[in-house]
Amino acid sequence: MSETLDRSLLPVRKLYTGEEIPCVGLGTFGSDKYGAEQVSQAVYGAIRYGYRLIDCAAVYQNEDSIGEVLQRVMQEGAVERKELFVTSKVWNDMHGEGKVLESCRKSLQDLRLDYLDLYFVHWPFPNYHAPGCSGDSRNPDSRPFSVEEFMATWRQCEELVDKGLVRYIGMSNMTIPKLEAVLPLCRIQPAALEMELHPSFQQKELFAYALEHNILPIGYCPIGSPSRPERDRTEEDVADTELPAVLAAAEAHGVHPAIICLKWAVQRGQVPIPFSVKENQYISNLKSAAEDPLTEEEMKAIEAEDKNCRLIKGQVFLWEGAKDWEDLWDVEGVITTC
Ligand SMILES: NC(=O)c1ccc[n+]([C@@H]2O[C@H](COP(=O)([O-])OP(=O)(O)OC[C@H]3O[C@@H](n4cnc5c(N)ncnc54)[C@H](OP(=O)(O)O)[C@@H]3O)[C@@H](O)[C@H]2O)c1
Repeated sequence: MSETLDRSLLPVRKLYTGEEIPCVGLGTFGSDKYGAEQVSQAVYGAIRYGYRLIDCAAVYQNEDSIGEVLQRVMQEGAVERKELFVTSKVWNDMHGEGKVLESCRKSLQDLRLDYLDLYFVHWPFPNYHAPGCSGDSRNPDSRPFSVEEFMATWRQCEELVDKGLVRYIGMSNMTIPKLEAVLPLCRIQPAALEMELHPSFQQKELFAYALEHNILPIGYCPIGSPSRPERDRTEEDVADTELPAVLAAAEAHGVHPAIICLKWAVQRGQVPIPFSVKENQYISNLKSAAEDPLTEEEMKAIEAEDKNCRLIKGQVFLWEGAKDWEDLWDVEGVITTC
């Protein structure tokens, strides 16, 4: 591939410091379907094409392979470190005292980087489950959200900033009640909130809350994660690429419905991080932000397709005594504590 996108055509997003970051990133969770080698080859091709934001995580079990291609692409002079915006995340089994630093150092070593641009607390619980476990598996040590425990983890993240190992820190899979409880306690505010966002799951209140607090929403599963594992599927799930307003816009613009989901995301103001190992897909995914925007009517029609359809329910993180997966998401408007 020799094609490269003219990056000046892409909109940018701003962090609370005023620093600009890319409006689209590349997801790297290969799920049960794509191995580390395939994902890292996509990272290589994507950076060569013009991606600058790469969304990584220790639990995706591919940071070592991604590190090899990051090193290669920089050695080849295709990009400089300071042009890239690389994220990673501390997994749930590494929240304890001293563990966050250990986890961050491991990600840095695997990714062959001196610093990360943004480091997330992947889930706001220390509730561990093995990668790839079945949807009904439960860990007896799991427990509900605790402000004290979360803040102890966050303090460790703040220290990573102090040490110069990460430039920004972020939260993921949060709710408004949890944010209300922890934001006033933060010495360093979260720069971004990674959250599930796609046309059938728009999280309007949380999205607005993040923007009001100068926290940039980064949207995962932006295409509705059509390749997600079986354990993350239920009969009620809606396919975003089959929503009437998405299909109508896809026909009008002559593109795949996935591209419409991404255009909607970028125009709404979140940073989508679509995953793909297929060159034609990841090229068109980034290009979608550079050309042929949706009309106001199309944006409104897609806005009306919200179905409150959460795909990543997180049920494997439930604790004994919890009713069901909705307990993880504080649907009653208060933190679920038992
Ligand atoms: N913070 C968190 O807790 C969290 C949770 C989940 C995900 N994430 C992040 O978000 C990223 C994205 O989420 P995701 O991978 O679940 O879902 P996604 O990006 O919504 O869906 C990815 C899938 O969509 C299909 N696709 C991609 N581009 C396409 C195109 N142009 N045309 C048609 N189909 C296309 C591909 O399916 P095929 O491969 O079948 O072609 C691809 O595997 C992850 O990789 C990860 O980095 C974070």
